[in-house]
Amino acid sequence: MTTYRGRVAFITGGASGAGFGQALVFGLSGARIAIADVRADAVAEAVTSLRDQGVEAFGVELDVTDRAAYARAVDAVEAHFGAPVTLLFNTAGINAFGPVERMTFADFDRILAVNLSGVINGLVTLVPRMIEAGLGGHVVAVASVGGFEGGRTTAPYSAAKAAVINLMESYAQALPDYGIGVTVLCPASIRSNIAESHREHLAAAGASGVIADDGFIDALAEIYASGMAPETLALHLKASMEAGDLYCIPYPEVRGQLESCFGRILDAIPDGDEHDARAAASRAAALEVFRERVRARPQPANES
Ligand code: NAI
Repeated sequence: MTTYRGRVAFITGGASGAGFGQALVFGLSGARIAIADVRADAVAEAVTSLRDQGVEAFGVELDVTDRAAYARAVDAVEAHFGAPVTLLFNTAGINAFGPVERMTFADFDRILAVNLSGVINGLVTLVPRMIEAGLGGHVVAVASVGGFEGGRTTAPYSAAKAAVINLMESYAQALPDYGIGVTVLCPASIRSNIAESHREHLAAAGASGVIADDGFIDALAEIYASGMAPETLALHLKASMEAGDLYCIPYPEVRGQLESCFGRILDAIPDGDEHDARAAASRAAALEVFRERVRARPQPANES
């Protein structure tokens, strides 16, 4: 895929943070932008801001966990632009922190619903339509560096992001056959409003093990305020998409963390010689146990 001009981009979570950065960067590159976000007011504001900056934009209110609404939102976008969606950005996400041992079903259900089922709903709704349209395109999902390892206060989020990374590995094996690229963006930190989603989760989830402390949430917001600017992140993403890369992880500072994570996994695999020696020792031990049982078995009378 060499040009964005005229292509229709469907960006979930596009009203804020990383999604809005994508809207701006790909919109200014010529794509027609559909913002799909659960917050209607924020959708309207984002569309106005994009149009003011010369981007052709349209907005739909969508909760990505609602499959029927997802299909209707895509129908509305395609009808508005008179063209199929060929760029899908699964960017909507929420975060909420709490000790793993206190996490409730409600915490897991809600965080997995948005961060994992929301992506699945995007893929299952749009990939067949993109293939049918026959115009190629690109599918993006926003995971997280946190999807490569667990965290004692991030369990549902990390598990969802790990699954998103793995999903994109699968789609990346299939979609190039249809001229559709696949990229999974794994950010470490973004200057965004995601700390607000922690507050909203506390209000929405019911029984929750998530930390209910305004000071903690304010501190989170401050940490995110020093994250990468969304437009910068979107430019890195665009470069990875154009290079045909599956992974976009534009944070050099996480190299050591990921080396140690993958190192621990690789260390669990014995090297060839060590494996052969262990296997031979285990076979010999099993044979010895078998022989011992044969020697100890009662002798039939006619054998003596
Ligand atoms: P943000 O809060 O600024 O933007 C997320 C947008 O998603 C919001 O506009 C929100 O209304 C929307 N959204 C939430 N639930 C939704 C739903 N059910 N349906 C539709 N839209 C929904 O946050 P940010 O940081 O820009 O998040 C974008 C993505 O980046 C998320 O997937 C997040 O997990 C991921 N990420 C963020 C990091 C960070 O440091 N902020 C780090 C790593 C990954």
